[in-house]
Amino acid sequence: MRFALCAAIPAVLCLGFTANYDEDQVPDYTLPDPLVLEDGSPVPDAETWREKRRPELVALFEEHVYGRRLPDPPHLHFQLVDEDPEALGGMATRKQVVIHLAEERDRPAIELLLYTPNNVEGPVPGFIYLAFWGNQTMHTDPAIRVSTRWMRGHGTGVVDNIATLESRGARVENVPVETIIQRGYAIATYYYGDAAPDDHARYRREILSLFLDEDAERDGAHASAIGTWAWGLSRGLDYLETDDAVDHTRVAVLGHSRLGKTALWAGALDERFGMVISNNSGCGGAALSRRRFGERVSRINDSFPHWFCRNFRNYNEREDALPVDQHMLVALAAPRPVYVASATEDRWADPKGEFLAAYHAGPVYQLLGEDPLPVHEMPEPGVAAHGAIGYHIREGSHAITEFDWGMYLDFADKHFTRPL
Ligand code: GCU
Repeated sequence: MRFALCAAIPAVLCLGFTANYDEDQVPDYTLPDPLVLEDGSPVPDAETWREKRRPELVALFEEHVYGRRLPDPPHLHFQLVDEDPEALGGMATRKQVVIHLAEERDRPAIELLLYTPNNVEGPVPGFIYLAFWGNQTMHTDPAIRVSTRWMRGHGTGVVDNIATLESRGARVENVPVETIIQRGYAIATYYYGDAAPDDHARYRREILSLFLDEDAERDGAHASAIGTWAWGLSRGLDYLETDDAVDHTRVAVLGHSRLGKTALWAGALDERFGMVISNNSGCGGAALSRRRFGERVSRINDSFPHWFCRNFRNYNEREDALPVDQHMLVALAAPRPVYVASATEDRWADPKGEFLAAYHAGPVYQLLGEDPLPVHEMPEPGVAAHGAIGYHIREGSHAITEFDWGMYLDFADKHFTRPL
C-alpha cells in the first residue's frame, strides 16, 4: 500500500523535497549510545538499564518524537457485540468487542475483531494488528461489522471518506487469517481511525477529545496521532487480558508502515506486549534518521504534521541534533523478541537504515542476556536472520505480504513456544 508518490519514484521532487537514494551521499554520522546515560556514565548492567536508561529513553522519545503518552482511560468497558464459535467454516471463533472509553457516550470507542483457533487447546498466543481501512477489509467474512468512521479517501470501497460494503475483504492480502489460525495463533485487529482519524484537522476528535483541548499543540510534546494509535493497541490488549481463549502474555503487536512505527512505539511504552514487529516502518519507525536516506524527518513532519509531536519539527534538517535515533526505539522492546522487516523496492523507507537500527539495538539485548541479530551484514532477500532480534528483507515493494507473515509466524514459533 502506498500513500506517497515519492515512494514510487527513485528520486523525485515532492513538496519541494528531494529524497537521496545514493548510498555514497549518506553523510557520516555518530549514533547516540543506548548504553550511556544522559549524564555520560555507562550502563553496566541490566538493573541500570531497567531502572535508569530505559525510562530516560522513553522520556526522550516522548519529549522529542512521539509526544507524551496518554493516561489510562477514564472508563473502560468491553461490550461483546458478536460471537460465532463456527466462524471461517468452523476453524475459528469470531468475536467483535466494542471497547468503550467514556461513560455515557458512544464515542470514543474501539472496535476489536478477534479470531481464535478452534482446534487448539487454549489459551493461544496471538497477534494484534492495526487495520488501515476498517476490520471489514481484512477478510470477506460477511459478519464483520463495517466501520462507520471517517477514513482517508484512497482505500478500495471508500466513498466520501466513509467505507461502503465494497470495502469488504478489500485488504485480504494484508492478513492471511486462515494461515494464522491454522498455525495455532489468534489474530485481533482494530481500525486505527477509531483511535485517531489520520488527518491533521481531525486527529484530536476521538480519543484525544478525552484528554486534549484545541490549544494542545502549544505544548511541543503534545500527544500525537502515533501515540494515540499505540494507546489504542494497549486497550486492545486490555481486552485480550480478559479473554480466556488468548494467552495475553504472548501477544505480538504488529503494524505495517505508519502502523509499523506505531507498533514499535506501542511496544516501547507497554511492556505487556510479548513481541514487537515492525513491517516496512521507515522514517520515524525502524529506519535510522541520521542516514537521511529516502524519507527524512523534515518531509514526514511536513506531510503528516499530526503523526509526531511538534518538538520533532525542531530536527527538520538537523537529524544529528536528535538526542535519540531509531535503534533506541528498537532497543526499548528488549528483552522481548523484536522484529524489523524491509522490502527491496521500498527505498523510501530505507531498508538499510531499518536493518542498521535492528543491528545497533544488539548491545542492549546482549546486556540483558538475549541474542542480538545473528548477522553483521544485511541478509540476502528472503533469508531470515532470527535472534531475539529478527530481520528480513523481502523482494518487492512496500507492503505486508503472506511471505512476511510466514516469517513472523516462524519467529513467534521460535520464541512463544519456549518456556516462559
Ligand atoms: C507515506 C509516509 C511513510 C509511511 C507510509 C505508510 O509513504 O511517507 O512514512 O510509512 O506513508 O504509512 O504507508
